Amino acid sequence: MKIALFAGDGIGPEIMAEARAVLAALDLPGLVVFEGDVGGAAYRRHGHPLPQETLAMARAADGVLFGAVGDPACDGLERHLRPEQAILGLRSALGLFANLRPARMFKGLESLSALRPEIAGEIDLLIVRELNGDVYFGEKAQRTLDDGRRQGFDFMSYAEDEVRRIAHVAFRAAQGRARGGRSGRLCSVDKANVLETSQLWRDVVIETHADYPDVTLSHMYVDNAAMQLVRDPGQFDVVVTGNLFGDILSDQASMCVGSIGLLASAALGERQTAFGTFGLYEPIHGSAPDIAGQGSANPMAMILSLAMMLRHSLGREEDAARVERAVSQTLADGVRGDDLGGTAGTREIGDAVLARL
Ligand code: NAD
Ligand code: IPM
Ligand code: MN
Repeated sequence: MKIALFAGDGIGPEIMAEARAVLAALDLPGLVVFEGDVGGAAYRRHGHPLPQETLAMARAADGVLFGAVGDPACDGLERHLRPEQAILGLRSALGLFANLRPARMFKGLESLSALRPEIAGEIDLLIVRELNGDVYFGEKAQRTLDDGRRQGFDFMSYAEDEVRRIAHVAFRAAQGRARGGRSGRLCSVDKANVLETSQLWRDVVIETHADYPDVTLSHMYVDNAAMQLVRDPGQFDVVVTGNLFGDILSDQASMCVGSIGLLASAALGERQTAFGTFGLYEPIHGSAPDIAGQGSANPMAMILSLAMMLRHSLGREEDAARVERAVSQTLADGVRGDDLGGTAGTREIGDAVLARL
C-alpha cells in the first residue's frame, strides 16, 4: 500500500501532522508513505506549484492525502504558477472527475450550526461535484477590446460524456444511500433557465435516470438550491452539480453543520488499485492564511479525509469507521476548536481524536 502526503501551504502542514499521527496509530500492514511538495511551498523550492516529481509520486500511489494550497504572497504570479494550480493540475492530470463532499450533522453540534438547531439536526447530505470541467477548465484570458476597454473571459462548457459519467456516480451514490425501503434521492442542481451548459446537463441527467428507476430524481436551479440549503437542508439526500456550483454550495453546507473545519472530500476517477479506487482526499477548506502558524486550525476535516481514503482507496472500511467514530466522540465530548466556539488547538484536537481511537 502506497500513499502520498502533500501538506501544502498555510494550515496544510499543521493539519496534516494530525492526520499523520492518526495514520501512524492505525499501523497499517505494509504501508509506505511518501511526502511531496505542492502549492506555494513547491513554487519556492522548485519554481512550480506542481513539480513533475510530485505528480509522479501521486501517479505511483494508491491514494493521495492533500492538505491545502494557497498563499496570498503568490497572488501576483502568472496564473499557471499560482499555488491553486497544484490542486487543479492534480485533479485534471489524474482524471479525478468525481468529488464527494458529505455534510452530516454531528451529535451535540446542533446548537453550533449557523442554522437553528432543529433545522440543522436534519442534515445528512452528499454533494457530488463534477471536478474536471465547467468554467474552471475552459479557455480563459484577459484582453483589450478595440475600443481600449479591458475584458476578462472564462469559457464554460460541458460535453455530454462528462455529464453522463458524473451522473452515473451520483445515481449510484443515491442507490447506496437508500434505506428502510425508502429509495435514494438525487437532486441535480443547475441553471438551465439561463445557461446552455446547464440545459445539456439537465437533459443528460434525465437520460441517465433511465438506468436508475429506483432513484427519485429532482432538479433545482442553483439560486433556489442555495436558499433551500439554509431553509430546509434535511430535504437533500444526494446533490449532483457542476464544478463551480458544487464549490460554492459545499462551503455553504459546511456552515450548516457548524464549521468548514469539519468537511472532508474524496476526488475519484476510474483507475482501480489493488485495494479500491485511486483517489485524492482533502478538506474542502483552503490554506486559511488568516490563522496559519497559530496552531488553532481544526484538523478534523483533514482526519476525516484520511478516513475517506481508508474507505475508498485502501479497502479499510473498518479503520475508516473507527476514525470517524473517534472524531464524532471527540466532538460529543466537547473538545472543540476556535471555529466551533471552543479553545482546543490543532494538536489538542488531534490528540483527543487519537485517545478515542
Ligand atoms: P479558506 O477555506 O482557506 O478559509 C476561509 C475561512 O475559514 C478563514 O477564515 C479560515 O480561517 C477558516 N478556516 C478554514 N479552514 C479552517 C480550519 N480547518 N479550522 C478553522 N478555521 C478554518 O478560504 P479562503 O480564505 O478563501 O482561501 C485561502 C487560500 O486557500 C486561497 O489561496 C485559496 O485559493 C485557497 N484554497 C485552497 C483550497 C484547496 O487547497 N483545496 C480550497 C479552498 C481555498
Ligand atoms: C476547493 C477550492 C478549489 C476549487 C480552489 C483552490 C482551486 O476552492 O477545493 O474547494 O475551487 O475547487
Ligand atoms: Mn472551495
